[in-house]
Amino acid sequence: MLYPQNNRFRQFIELSDFWDFRFDFDDKGLRDGWEKGFENGQPIAVPASWNEQFAENRDFLGPAWYQTHFSLPWGWDKHRVLIRFNSVNYLADVWLNGEKIGQHEGGHLPFKFDITSQIKNEGNHLVVRVDGNLTTDRVPPSDHNLLLANYPPTNFDFYPFCGIQRPVLLYSIPNEAIIDLTINTSIEGKTGIVNAKVERSDGNPVKAQFNLTRNGTNISTEIEMDNRLSEATLRVPNASFWAPGAPQLYDLKIELSRNGTTFDSYTLPVGIRTISVEGDKLLLNGKPIELLGFGRHEDFPVIGRGLMPAVIIKDYSLMQWIGANSFRTSHYPYSEQMMDLADQLGILIIDETPAVGLTFHKTVFDRHLELCKQYTKELIARDKNHPSVIMWSLANEPHQNINAKMFFEQLYDLAKKLDSTRPITFANMHIGEERSFKFCDIVCVNRYYGWYLERAKMDKACELLSKELDKLYKRYSKPIILSEFGAGTIPGWHANPPEMWSEEYQVEFLSEYIKVANSKPFVVGQHVWNLCDFKTSQHDRRMGGINYKGVFTRDRRPKMAAHHLRKLWSGKTD
Ligand code: GCU
Repeated sequence: MLYPQNNRFRQFIELSDFWDFRFDFDDKGLRDGWEKGFENGQPIAVPASWNEQFAENRDFLGPAWYQTHFSLPWGWDKHRVLIRFNSVNYLADVWLNGEKIGQHEGGHLPFKFDITSQIKNEGNHLVVRVDGNLTTDRVPPSDHNLLLANYPPTNFDFYPFCGIQRPVLLYSIPNEAIIDLTINTSIEGKTGIVNAKVERSDGNPVKAQFNLTRNGTNISTEIEMDNRLSEATLRVPNASFWAPGAPQLYDLKIELSRNGTTFDSYTLPVGIRTISVEGDKLLLNGKPIELLGFGRHEDFPVIGRGLMPAVIIKDYSLMQWIGANSFRTSHYPYSEQMMDLADQLGILIIDETPAVGLTFHKTVFDRHLELCKQYTKELIARDKNHPSVIMWSLANEPHQNINAKMFFEQLYDLAKKLDSTRPITFANMHIGEERSFKFCDIVCVNRYYGWYLERAKMDKACELLSKELDKLYKRYSKPIILSEFGAGTIPGWHANPPEMWSEEYQVEFLSEYIKVANSKPFVVGQHVWNLCDFKTSQHDRRMGGINYKGVFTRDRRPKMAAHHLRKLWSGKTD
C-alpha cells in the first residue's frame, strides 16, 4: 500500500489536529445516530491514544466517537479523493457526511476508503467510532486469562492503548494512476539489480519511464504498458549496496505518460540489498550478519501509542549510541515514519504482526486465523519495499496447542507466497508453541531463565540456556535469535551482591546471556527486552503498571545496563 505523496499529479494533507471526542459509556451512539454528529464532546489530539490524554477514564477502552470537518482542497475536484487512516486501535467505523464509508478491524496497520463520490466542496463532516475493547474473538485476544489476571485484562504484557493513534490523511490521485509498486533487489558481483512491479488502476496502453538516481547516477528505462500489472528491471553497475553503517538509498521515479503527456508519477527510496538464510547463518548481501538490538514498544507518557516523531528520533539516537543495528517491532507493526527512518539510518527490522497471545482454542481458531491472515497481508503490503525490513515475524509467544502447527503452516505459506524474498519466523516463549518452528526459516526464542525461572541463580540460568540452545539447534538446524531476554530493574536501585530488580543484576543478567549467545555460532541475534521501560496493565508483578525491563527508563534515561551494552556492542565508554 503506497504512502500518499505530494507532486504535480498527487497531493495529501494530514487531518492531524484537535478533533471533537466523546466517550460512549452506554454504547448508545449507534442507536442515537451519532454518525450524523454528536453534542457534548471535548477536544482531543489526533493522532494519539485517548487513554492518557484525560485525567479520568484512562482504562475505558471504548466505544468512543471522534468527529472533525474539512473542505476539499483547491484543484482536487477533478481527481480521485481518498481518506487513509494509518492506525486506529482496535475497530473503526467511519462515516462521511452521515454516510457509512467503511469499517476496519485491527490496529497498527493502514486502511483507506475512496470518497470521490461522497465528498463535498465545503463542510465535509467525518465521524469515526472506535472500539478498543479486546475480546476472545479478536487479535490480540483477551480471554481474561488467569495467567495474567491484569487490569485492563489482556493476554499480553503492554497497555491496550486505543484511539486514532497515527495520522489520518486526505489525498488525491489521478483518475488513471499507479496503485501499487513492488520492488525486489538482487546483486550480481558489483552490479545491483532492481525489479519494479507496477500495478495500475486500469490496463489502458501507456508509456512508463523508470529513473533510478543517486549522487549523479541515473539509470533509466522506458516500457510500453498495456495491462494493469507490468514490470521493469534496471541493472546498476558498480552499485552502492544498502547495509547498516552504509544505508545507500536510490530514488526510483516512475512516470506514466500518453501521447507525450505525463499524467502520474510516484517516487520511492530503494535500497539494493539481499537477505538470506544459509546453514546456521543470516546473510546480508551474502555476508553473515549478527543482529544486536532490542525488543521495543511504541510507548510514551501521555501520547500512549500515538505517533511521536521526536521520540522516534530519540530512540534511533539511543540505538546508535548503544551500538545496536536492529530491533523487532514487538508486538505489532510500528509507524511508517519509523520504517522510513530505518531505511535512511541503516537499522535492520524484524517486522511483527499484531498477533500476540494466541491460544488456538477451537472456539476462536478460525476467526483468529482469518484475522492473522488479514494482518499478514496488510503488513507485507505496507512494508514490502523497505530495505530495512529483513524478516517477518508472524506472532509473538503463541501458546502451545495441538492446533498451532496447522495455524502457522497456513500463515507461513501465505507469507511466503506474498514475499518469497524474506525469512519468516515467530517469537517463541518458554514452554510455548515449538512444533511450528518447522515453518520458520529462523528460530526466535524469548528466554527468561534467571528471572521467571531459576530466579537470581544466573549460573544455573545460563547452564539451562546454553543446553536449550544446543538442543534447539540440534533439532531444527536453523539459525537462532535470542529475541527476548531481560530483567526488571528499578532505576537507581543498587545492590551488592547484585539482587533482582537492582541495576547491577540487570547488567549481570544481560552480560551472562550475551556470553552464552556469543559462544554459539548458530545464534545470529541478541535482542534485549526492552529498549525502554513501558506502560502495561496493572498487576502485582508490574509496579505502577510499568514493565521495568528497559535499559532506558520510560523517559529515555540510561540505566547502568545501557552503558554496559554500549561498551559491549560499540566498544565505547565515553
Ligand atoms: C514476554 C513477552 C513480552 C513481555 C516479557 C516480560 O516474553 O513477549 O511482551 O513484556 O515477556 O515478561 O517482560
